[in-house]
This record gives sequence, C-alpha cells and structure tokens, in this order.
Amino acid sequence: MEGIETLRQWVKESDNIVFFGGAGVSTESGIPDFRSVDGLYHQKYDYPPETILSHTFFMKKTEEFYRFYHDKMLVSGAKPNAAHLKLAELEAKGKLKAVITQNIDGLHQLAGSKEVLELHGSVQRNYCQKCHKFYDFAKMQSSAGVPVCDDCGGVIKPDVVLYEEGLDMQTMNKAVNYIANADVLIIGGTSLVVYPAAGLIDYYRGNKLVLINLSETARDDVADLCIHGRIGEVMSQLE
Ligand code: APR
Repeated sequence: MEGIETLRQWVKESDNIVFFGGAGVSTESGIPDFRSVDGLYHQKYDYPPETILSHTFFMKKTEEFYRFYHDKMLVSGAKPNAAHLKLAELEAKGKLKAVITQNIDGLHQLAGSKEVLELHGSVQRNYCQKCHKFYDFAKMQSSAGVPVCDDCGGVIKPDVVLYEEGLDMQTMNKAVNYIANADVLIIGGTSLVVYPAAGLIDYYRGNKLVLINLSETARDDVADLCIHGRIGEVMSQLE
C-alpha cells in the first residue's frame, strides 16, 4: 500500500506520536462502525440512531433507548485487533504518548494501552442517576429492559456522551495538549464528521499528519500522508 514506507520512517524516527481514532479502529474486532454502508446508522429503526442516542430520547423513551443500546452498543466478547495491539506496543516503547478515541468499547485498554482519552465515555462505566453507584458492563448486559440500581431503584445511565450532551472538558483539554505538542499525529478509522471531537485535528502544529481510513474522510485535504486501507493491516506493518 502506497505511503506505508513513509509512515514506517516517521514512526521509527519519532518518540512523540499521538493517535486519534474512531469506530473504524474496532470494526476488525467485529464491532460495526456508524457511517460505513454496513454501519449502525444505515440499518432500519423507527427513529434515526442519532435521535435514539440522544439525551432527550434517553430521558423520554428510556425503554426504547435501552432496546437499541443493549442490542447494538453492548457488543460482548470483542477482542483487541492488530491496530489496538500495535498502539499499545508503541506506547510501551515510549514512542506513543496517548491514544485519543471516540470509541466507547474499552478495547485500547484491553490491548494494554495506558494513556487512553475516551472523548465519548465508555460502556464499561455506568452510574445510578440517583445515588451514583457504579455498575460495570456485565450488569448492563445482564439487565433486560431498563437497568435499575440494586440499592435505591434509580435508573442506571451509561457513562457515554449522548447527542445533546457535553464532552468532559478535562479530557478535551488533555487531548488538545497532546495533539498541539505531537510530532506525529496519526488519525485512523474515523469519518471526522462529529464535532467537537473532529475539531481536535486543527490543534496539530506539525508537518506529519497521517490519515489512515478505508474511505475518504472530511479532512483528507489537511493530511500530510493519506493511506486508504484497513487500519489493522497498516498498523501491523509498523516497527
Ligand atoms: N480500517 C480503516 N478504516 C475503517 C475500517 C478499517 N478496518 N473500518 C471502517 N473504517 C472507516 C470507515 O470508512 C469510516 O470512514 O472508519 C470510519 C468510521 O466512521 P464513523 O462510522 O463515522 O465512526 P466515527 O468517525 O468514530 O463516528 C464518530 O459519531 O455517532 C457518533 O459518537 C459516535 O463516536 C461516534 C462519532
């Protein structure tokens, strides 16, 4: 695949790499993305998925929210793929400073990555809205219908950023810092259409911005190196 040699060189020479990724990083682990033709947003539902995955819908149609969330978002048994593993390896070698992800599946941590900034939260963390008691993935997966707190009966809410909700500003500020100071910024498996996450790319000040994506993205024009391919395959070819 064209461009791989340049990417290998840049990665070899750098000890300040930052990765920014999206759902395309996890498709090779069996988790569908959102906007590919076979992605979540192209399947048939009563409402557009962006409506279902919104704060208003969660509050007003909680039962229906959880039907979608349980069936489509709580993918169990997914394993890290070559992309996740290579990123963890680059961090262990002191070459990669942070993984910044829009994904909520926790696969980067499962692969061994330590510094992972989850801009949209995680399915691994869930809290009772009344008493804030913590619940894990297993509790949510085993609950049919709307999961409620064992202690106070309150409705449990996933620690996932829904549409209409704000991102955690501390996480965003840390992400801006990593990107603003990065030597090499590798962006992978994201269509770069959802803000403010997609806007992070504009904080990069270097001249080694790499875009690895199956399809064209909204920001191909700003990349110093654009590789259209499967991210697991591309990343596994790096030192
Ligand atoms: N290798 C490389 N790229 C891939 C692969 C792969 N194996 N599989 C899919 N892709 C690409 C697709 O071509 C697509 O452009 O990954 C991109 C995924 O884009 P989206 O489905 O839009 O996912 P993402 O960019 O993460 O969406 C951002 O939207 O719904 C919200 O909160 C949700 O975090 C999500 C946000």
